[in-house]
Amino acid sequence: MKALQWVLAKPVVGMPSSSNFSLAETDLPSPTEQKVLVEIRYHTVAPGIRARIGADTYAAKIEVGEIIPGMGVGIVLESASVLFEPGDLVVGQLAWATHAIVAASDINRIGTQHLKDLPLHTALGTMGPSGLTAYFGLTDVLAIQPGETVVISSAAGSVGSAAGQIAKILGCHVIGIAGGKEKCRDLIEIYGFDDSLDYRDSKSLARELNAKAPEGIDAYFDNVGGEISDAVIQNMKLFGRIAICGQTSEYNQREPRGCRQMTSVITRRLTLQGFVVFDFRDQFDRALEHIREWVLSGALQDSPNILSGIDLAVDGFVSQFSESSAGRLLVKIGEAGQGW
Ligand SMILES: NC(=O)c1ccc[n+]([C@@H]2O[C@H](COP(=O)([O-])OP(=O)(O)OC[C@H]3O[C@@H](n4cnc5c(N)ncnc54)[C@H](OP(=O)(O)O)[C@@H]3O)[C@@H](O)[C@H]2O)c1
Repeated sequence: MKALQWVLAKPVVGMPSSSNFSLAETDLPSPTEQKVLVEIRYHTVAPGIRARIGADTYAAKIEVGEIIPGMGVGIVLESASVLFEPGDLVVGQLAWATHAIVAASDINRIGTQHLKDLPLHTALGTMGPSGLTAYFGLTDVLAIQPGETVVISSAAGSVGSAAGQIAKILGCHVIGIAGGKEKCRDLIEIYGFDDSLDYRDSKSLARELNAKAPEGIDAYFDNVGGEISDAVIQNMKLFGRIAICGQTSEYNQREPRGCRQMTSVITRRLTLQGFVVFDFRDQFDRALEHIREWVLSGALQDSPNILSGIDLAVDGFVSQFSESSAGRLLVKIGEAGQGW
């Protein structure tokens, strides 16, 4: 089986560029030892992968010569595991590739009852890791309550846009922070946020946030860290809660920068809690039932920017760290329509 796969060609120092990666054509053997050959239909190019290039995170680091992993959906072509058979629709840790051989333990069969009447790519968005991360960050880690003021950073991204919409559904006043006028307009017009703030066009984010939330912020869903979080922390209410979901602004730094507002954390008696979505694995089915209802009713929009073709994966990945980042990205491989 011929496959095209993106591999790490050289170490990344600071910002990634297309020269750090190469697209290799490989002959894949039949899978053995509990592995499965998957034909990939869609895969993500999430910025979180940057954190794994050259460093261990909650997942193993990616070394030079290795295939770049990515969440994906696809169809099983061959299986050496009793858990899967050819034709199964699966989601999980696949790769930036047309085909991949993966451990059976890294993928799950997609319950077609969850995806019935929905596009397949939603399994990587609202009906997948991004939607679940948003759901548990809000309902469990932050335990948001109706009427509370919630701020989301990287609000136009995959996790952030889902988080903002779910917080609205749950009755909160929601302010999103994103880069650029267009994204900030989309937050309100497409995703139904109450308000938005363009951090790229801000002289003092802390002051502008204070004008938008003069009574203070109850809960902060943090995707980026850095200066944006510094500004939010200075506007938290007493006993405010912060869920640390991602730190995108840190991933390309040679040295971690960290939070510079620890004094405010003390004086405001804040709680900061990091979390990983897979901690909630045993509750995914229950969450997906709620999320599915919201998507079907139109209360939760799922409209990623879809790049067609494996060759666009790296440029898409790199673009997310630039000023003209295009929002939520997915790569579509081959013909991945409603027919799956
Ligand atoms: N804890 C978990 O279980 C879990 C699960 C999934 C994802 N995550 C993390 O959650 C975060 C969001 O994930 P996602 O997939 O939805 O990504 P995302 O928010 O779509 O990330 C891409 C966006 O990040 C923003 N960005 C890039 N560089 C930045 C910088 N230096 N400062 C501020 N913003 C910057 C850009 O948006 P703007 O143009 O608006 O700046 C870009 O479009 C990531 O950090 C990811 O690692 C965590």
